Amino acid sequence: MAAIGKQSDSKKPHELVIVLDFGAQYAQLIARRVREQNVYCEVWPYDSTLEEVRAASPKAIIYSGGPASVYADGAPRSDERLLTAGIPILGICYGMQLMSLSLGGDVRRPDRREYGKASFKPTPGASPLFAGLDEEMQVWMSHGDSVLEPPAGFTVIGRTANTPVAAICDAARSLYGVQFHPEVVHTPRGAEVLRNFLFKVAGCTGEWTMESYITEATSEIRAKVGENGRALLALSGGVDSSVAAVLVQRAIGDRLTCVFVNNGLLRLGEPEQVIETFRRNLKMNLVYVDATDRFLSKLRGVTQPERKRKIIGETFVRVFEEEAAKLEAQTGHIDFLVQGTIYPDVIESGTRTAATIKTHHNVGGMPSDVKFKLVEPLRNLFKDEVRQVGEQLGLPEEIVWRHPFPGPGLGIRVLGPVTRPRLEVLRQADAIAIEEIRRAGLYRDIWQAFAVLSNQRSVGVMGDERTYGYTVVLRAVTARDAMTADWARLPYDLLERISSRIMNEIKGVTRLVYDVTSKPPATIEWE
Ligand code: XMP
Repeated sequence: MAAIGKQSDSKKPHELVIVLDFGAQYAQLIARRVREQNVYCEVWPYDSTLEEVRAASPKAIIYSGGPASVYADGAPRSDERLLTAGIPILGICYGMQLMSLSLGGDVRRPDRREYGKASFKPTPGASPLFAGLDEEMQVWMSHGDSVLEPPAGFTVIGRTANTPVAAICDAARSLYGVQFHPEVVHTPRGAEVLRNFLFKVAGCTGEWTMESYITEATSEIRAKVGENGRALLALSGGVDSSVAAVLVQRAIGDRLTCVFVNNGLLRLGEPEQVIETFRRNLKMNLVYVDATDRFLSKLRGVTQPERKRKIIGETFVRVFEEEAAKLEAQTGHIDFLVQGTIYPDVIESGTRTAATIKTHHNVGGMPSDVKFKLVEPLRNLFKDEVRQVGEQLGLPEEIVWRHPFPGPGLGIRVLGPVTRPRLEVLRQADAIAIEEIRRAGLYRDIWQAFAVLSNQRSVGVMGDERTYGYTVVLRAVTARDAMTADWARLPYDLLERISSRIMNEIKGVTRLVYDVTSKPPATIEWE
């Protein structure tokens, strides 16, 4: 497996903290919490070796939690030499148990798991980890195994009613462990615990900011593309490709060409807005290709979602390749392709230990055997960081905060056959819903909101007449990432406004229903 995020290719000029991922859904969250302290952090596989870690010179390592018992068959183990390498380590939950077991402590599996909030009492003055915190604080526990006796050289530095050994340290070796999860919101002062570890134990200074990221990324792109190299980027108008475009433009100016393909499956006004922003406002080299006819004719009569995805993806690649060839005929050889890959894509597509893997995300992108060399300037950033970079680079609010939009676009939101009239109905319904949600000030609180055109027609009345028209579905979800989502509790009066406007303003729609399913069990999209 390719090393996840390992930076052995180039030493970063800033501080690095490594989270070893023992399979917790929390590993990414830990990394984000560390970055919020302005310390750059990467998630690495749990079995990274001492040599790999040393080569990256981290200031500290954090062992994440994980679902396994340290006694389970095949329980993930780290390179034990890390524990005596002189690098400060914080073990969280499973990480603390593993550290204890590896160094000769006593770890037991009690009859019951402990799950939920607990009241944690740090031993006063016992360690810098809890400096500045109260005598008692709420923490989040989720564990089966417990440390009964810490290894020789360790002291107990905190407890809860159920867990007498809830935090341990060996100050001489800079090894720390906490049974609770400092990274989750249910540990309200968890950020301070992490901060103490980073700044008071590991000696970090916190100099990593989005400005420093932009400066560093810009010079890396310049170095990679060289003095005369040219790059291409497939611009979708979404946050990631837009931010990548602006960052690369900053580095290599008009040696970047963006290709924006209108597949006929975009939302109302979207092509115009993207052209306005990138060509007029940002003065980018933008090639606009209206391939609507080509996409829609390929989609004619196709109803199966996976077929739609495949057709849309393949057609996109063909169109893009043709445009690239035309450009090369004009400007000479193009070596580089810029992609808006972000850090969760990197982690989720590669770690051996992650429980869930995204499958269809960003399909419809480039095939893996493209002839270009890849430039992925956002590869190390989380979504919220990408947004911050976008804001700092002066991208407009509508782009930086735009809801995620799938590559196959409205093609998978028109259920059943995709035709121009059906797309038109959906576009208008979607635009009304989004306009009202924005007007209510709720757009940013929602992860994704959109309309779906069902293939269910239903009866209605209008005046004295019976009508027969489309049923439109409104979907709005809140989420932290797209792996899980909850249906958004939109206010009734907002739903009412959306409904009455859609009924009044769009001919042929007779019913609006609101989707109240979360993910799981449902997905966010309908197809
Ligand atoms: P689901 O529907 O699986 O979606 O809960 C999770 C996230 O992925 C987006 N999505 C896609 N994105 N190509 C994409 O680029 C696709 O085929 C695709 N299908 C779903 C969806 O909008 C949500 O953000």
